[in-house]
Amino acid sequence: MSLIVKVCLIFLLCSVVNGKLTEYVKWQSINYKNLPYPGDSSFYNPYVNVPFGLAHYGNKLFVAIARRNPGIPSSLNVVELTGSPPYINPPLISYPNWNMNMLNLGNQPNPAKIVSVYRPRVDRCDRLWFVDTGVLEYPNNQINVQRPSIWAIDLKTDIVIGRFDIPENIVPNGRGLASITIDDDDCANTFAYIPDWMNNALLVFSAQQGRIWRYNHNYFFFNPFEGDFDVDGLQFQWNDGIFSVALSKTKPNGYRTAFFHPLGSFSEFTVSTEILRNETLATRRTHGKDFKFVGHRGTNTQSGSHAVDLNTNVMFIAEMQNNAVSCWNIKKDLKRTNMDIVEQNNSTLIYPVDLTIDRESSLYVLSNRLPRFIYDRYDTNAYNFNIWRENINAALSGTTCLK
Ligand SMILES: *[C@@H]1O[C@H](CO)[C@@H](O)[C@H](O)[C@H]1NC(C)=O
Ligand SMILES: *[C@@H]1O[C@H](CO)[C@@H](O)[C@H](O)[C@H]1NC(C)=O
Ligand SMILES: *[C@@H]1O[C@H](CO)[C@@H](O)[C@H](O)[C@H]1NC(C)=O
Repeated sequence: MSLIVKVCLIFLLCSVVNGKLTEYVKWQSINYKNLPYPGDSSFYNPYVNVPFGLAHYGNKLFVAIARRNPGIPSSLNVVELTGSPPYINPPLISYPNWNMNMLNLGNQPNPAKIVSVYRPRVDRCDRLWFVDTGVLEYPNNQINVQRPSIWAIDLKTDIVIGRFDIPENIVPNGRGLASITIDDDDCANTFAYIPDWMNNALLVFSAQQGRIWRYNHNYFFFNPFEGDFDVDGLQFQWNDGIFSVALSKTKPNGYRTAFFHPLGSFSEFTVSTEILRNETLATRRTHGKDFKFVGHRGTNTQSGSHAVDLNTNVMFIAEMQNNAVSCWNIKKDLKRTNMDIVEQNNSTLIYPVDLTIDRESSLYVLSNRLPRFIYDRYDTNAYNFNIWRENINAALSGTTCLK
């Protein structure tokens, strides 16, 4: 055998056995640096600190812990990484600081505080964006602390540069606002698209106008035939609507294609941002053909998070039921034979909950084994929370998505 064949064989074996993504961070449980009130288990209960979202900027890796139980000291955090990966149980650092993340006594409202964050995002204008749902989703006891709000933080100074309350006529409360997608072509005229999985709506925020409006469409609803899940040996049925928006690169007309899908669905849909950005179009009685069905991704491909790499036109899809990240070149027809698996691991990639691409063309994926937490119990000796990272081209090498 020639050396090249041997090397290819080894490479193929490696990529089959180990997948294409590199294990980057893993936690058995989440701990914090400089924790106030150490030893107070009502302030910090390690078991309930479940990460839901991530974003990357320079030497900051953001990790968001949605407040779905008492005992979560800080919702928005960065993680300090020193040495070389994989990083094991690194402590979180409250961001921008402890004061802004600590709840008021008696959960009193306070617009200067961050209540609960799911999936933050970094834009190309050095800003961190996130929705604070304003809600404490405690079991059998949902506490609406304050209106949901959209935040922007300048990452060069760590200073809050914008905060916008989402009014009640747009959404009754913030519980369904689990992600935000930033349209950052123009740093001074930025738009944010926020899916509302509870109310089957898509919110559009214009930072420049300081206005928000709401699109309704039947494509935002789950498909009742595609809401059954079997994850980590646990079976359940969910009915979550529109969950994730992924933007194509900007087209010659100055607008992008916004891909979206409900969580309980195998289908992908699109709408042009030219439509979304136009507030007067939102209230039409019919949207005609402006919202389009793109195709089916394949059986059991429910996904809470997806993103398009603007250099390769490849979409990455976190498939929660398949314990997998898949890829699809958006220039091709959407069907399973035009897709590929980038990474699948039935013991370490269970329930990929968030996926994001940074400005250095790296893909980041977070899995948190959520059904085990909701319907059973975590094994606290296991690594329940994993982050993968890989350069986009390396992640796609050998897949059908680059061809
Ligand atoms: C899953 O990940 C574990 C830990 O990294 C690894 O040992 C195992 O080979 C992986 N399984 C597959 C099918 O890639
Ligand atoms: C919004 O759409 C309407 C109807 O097509 C159009 O008349 C109007 O110019 C659009 N507004 C903007 C800001 O593009
Ligand atoms: C991993 O789980 C998926 C979904 O249940 C299954 O289709 C696949 O065959 C499994 N892979 C391995 C290596 O067990």
